[in-house]
Amino acid sequence: MNTTTLQPHRVLSGMRPTGKLHLGHYHGVLKNWIQLQHEYDCFFFVADWHALTTDYEDPSVIGESVWDMVVDWLAAGVDPGASKLFIQSRIPEHAELHLLLSMMTPIGWLERVPTYKDQQEKLKEKDLSTYGFLGYPLLQSADILIYKSTLVPVGEDQVAHIELTREIARRFNHFYGSEVGFIEKANNAAKKMGKKNAKLYQELKKRFQEQGDHEALETARELLKAQQNITLSDRERLFGYLEGEGKIILPEPQALLTKSSKMPGLDGQKMSKSYGNTLSLRETSEEVEKKIKKMPTDPARVRLTDPGDPEKCPVWPLHKVYSPDDVKEWVQQGCKSAAMGCLECKGPIIDAVNNELAPMRMKAAEFNENPNLVRNIIAEGCEEARDITKKTLDEVRQAMGLGYR
Ligand code: TRP
Ligand code: SF4
Repeated sequence: MNTTTLQPHRVLSGMRPTGKLHLGHYHGVLKNWIQLQHEYDCFFFVADWHALTTDYEDPSVIGESVWDMVVDWLAAGVDPGASKLFIQSRIPEHAELHLLLSMMTPIGWLERVPTYKDQQEKLKEKDLSTYGFLGYPLLQSADILIYKSTLVPVGEDQVAHIELTREIARRFNHFYGSEVGFIEKANNAAKKMGKKNAKLYQELKKRFQEQGDHEALETARELLKAQQNITLSDRERLFGYLEGEGKIILPEPQALLTKSSKMPGLDGQKMSKSYGNTLSLRETSEEVEKKIKKMPTDPARVRLTDPGDPEKCPVWPLHKVYSPDDVKEWVQQGCKSAAMGCLECKGPIIDAVNNELAPMRMKAAEFNENPNLVRNIIAEGCEEARDITKKTLDEVRQAMGLGYR
């Protein structure tokens, strides 16, 4: 359960469609999604508008990657029966929330997000001094807040975006969570829990506010969670009243840090498209074999009889990912004593990668033969997404004073 709202946790994450998915995505992101989908209510989406912020001059890669990416997710084991899959631009409500949030977002907050300058430096060939790129993290905040998501699985590089989202939510609740007669309404709401609970609630609130007692805050939240007979807005009031500000309309999300993917590429560096050292999820078994056979090894091993050191070889990190202890022992021995050749050493890696990819290739082929199935999965995900986003937007419009009709 989320601690500041009554809702069970909701997980949301997005991926930009900027090219083929590779084993780095699988080990770093998808395996994590696949695990989360059985524990939480999960939403995963194609962040095509985000891709446009950097690829606006030639957006062709976006259209080419969208469906391949969805097929790769499905092939890897993202289960459309368990998670909702959708495409960002199909849910224009994200854009409306982005616009509304932009009204109250200080430009300085966006300029200070580290990725803003970092990416401009890194992608020098692109002109990223655009309005859209400055707004990148705010659009991400809208993506997250519109689902009232509480957990956002992301890598280290995205943590600043989640932090911004939390600040935006706080500022929003501060401006628009207050209502005329809030304190009276909150006190009345407390009474609806019954005399005993109301008294306990008030005591716990006092202990938190006057003595900073966080345990009391937790206990009060537990108390609220256990209430069956109060309305949603009364609940929001009572949660907000604990901290003194007003209603919590947009809950603050938490980053769920994905351990930085240690997936090594074909050259020993981290696997990444920009290093050209990837194995894509659609690689054929011949391609896998060819690419791994071509991998450089410890340069000391010029001849078969020259001993080597796995620590100096880009193949070794792959053994660490894929090989059981006895194989790793075999590598250490065979390499240091020059008892085996590098091709022999690469054999188990080739097999392991192909074993990992084999079921994905099969599933991808099935989905590719059945494009309507994939379209339908996305259509259904979009429906579910839209139901939620419409509700949140209604609340947000009301709160911002746009409730007139
Ligand atoms: N910016 C994210 C990335 O580059 C993608 C993204 C867009 C995202 N919106 C999101 C991730 C919302 C999590 C939640 O990886
Ligand atoms: Fe690398 Fe294996 Fe060759 Fe040693 S034997 S250099 S670990 S490929």
